[in-house]
Amino acid sequence: MHIPVLKEKVLEYLNVENGKIFFDGTLGFGGHTQAILERNDKAFVYATDKDGYAIERTTERLKDYKDRFNFFNIDFKEIFKLSLPINQFDGFLFDLGVSSDQLDNPEMGFAYSKDSPLDMRMDKRQQITAETIINDYSYSELIRVFRDYGEFKRPEKLVKEVLVARKQKRLTTTFELKRVVRNLYKRRKTMDPLARVFQAVRIEVNKELENLETFLLKLIDIMKKGARIVIISFHSLEDRISKNLLRKAKTENKLVVLTKKPVIASEKESRENPRARSAKLRAGERI
Ligand SMILES: C[S@@+](CC[C@H](N)C(=O)[O-])C[C@H]1O[C@@H](n2cnc3c(N)ncnc32)[C@H](O)[C@@H]1O
Repeated sequence: MHIPVLKEKVLEYLNVENGKIFFDGTLGFGGHTQAILERNDKAFVYATDKDGYAIERTTERLKDYKDRFNFFNIDFKEIFKLSLPINQFDGFLFDLGVSSDQLDNPEMGFAYSKDSPLDMRMDKRQQITAETIINDYSYSELIRVFRDYGEFKRPEKLVKEVLVARKQKRLTTTFELKRVVRNLYKRRKTMDPLARVFQAVRIEVNKELENLETFLLKLIDIMKKGARIVIISFHSLEDRISKNLLRKAKTENKLVVLTKKPVIASEKESRENPRARSAKLRAGERI
C-alpha cells in the first residue's frame, strides 16, 4: 500500500485547516486527499490521475467521503479543459512520479526487480509503451531520452548496446532491458545506471516533464490571492523544474516562496517509508 510522503508538511503548506477547495493533481492511492478530507470536514477535493485503476480503487476506498470529492481520469495538465472554478481553489498539490502501488504492480513494468512486460504506461489508453521506445525509437531519439531524462553525459555506448540487442530480438520485458544495461554497467549504490535507464524510459513514456513548467506557470497565473501550491519531487530533474518555477513566479511578483530550502523527510519517516528518502517538497503562496 502506498504511504503518502511528508503528509503533515503537505497539510501545513496547503493550509488545509483554513481552505475549502483543494486540487490533488496526482491522486494515486489517495493518501494525501484522504488526509485533507479528514483534517478539514468542510474541505472538497478535486483530483486527477492518468491511471484509471488508481481512480477506480481510490474512489472505492474513499467512498465514505463521496460527497466531498470529484476525481477525473485525465492528465493534470488537462484541467483547464474541464470547467472547474480553478480561480477559487485554495490549494494545489502535485506529488509527482509513480506510486508504490504502481511500482509494485508487475503489470505496469516500472520495476527492474520484477520480470514484466516493458510497458510503463500510467495511462493504459495511450499507445506508446516502453517497448515502443526501446525498440522503435531511432538512435538520436534514444540519445535524447537517456541524456535528458537519465542524465547520462555520454549515452552513445548505451544506445549502441540497445540497438545491437534489439536487432537480434525485440526487447519485450524488463529483464531483457536489464540484461542489456548490465552488460555495460555494473550495479552502483547511488545513481545506478540501470535505475537511470528505467527512469528515463518512464519519463518519456508518460511525458512526465513535457510542458510541466509551462503548465504550472499558467496555473499560478490563474490562482487566487492566498492560494497555495505544493510540489513534491523525487529526482533532480523534477526538483529543478519545481525550483525554477517558484523562482520565476517570485520574480514576476506572483508568488511568495514558502520553502527557502526544499522540505525533506525526517529520519524516522525515511526509515519507515524508503520512498520518502528522495522526496523534496517546495511550496508557494499566490500574492
Ligand atoms: C506519487 S503518486 C501519488 C500518491 C498520492 N499522493 C497518495 O498519497 O496516494 C503519483 C500518482 O500521480 C499519477 N500521475 C503522475 N503524473 C500525472 C499527471 N501528469 N497527470 C495525472 N496523474 C499523474 C500517477 O499515476 C500516480 O498515481
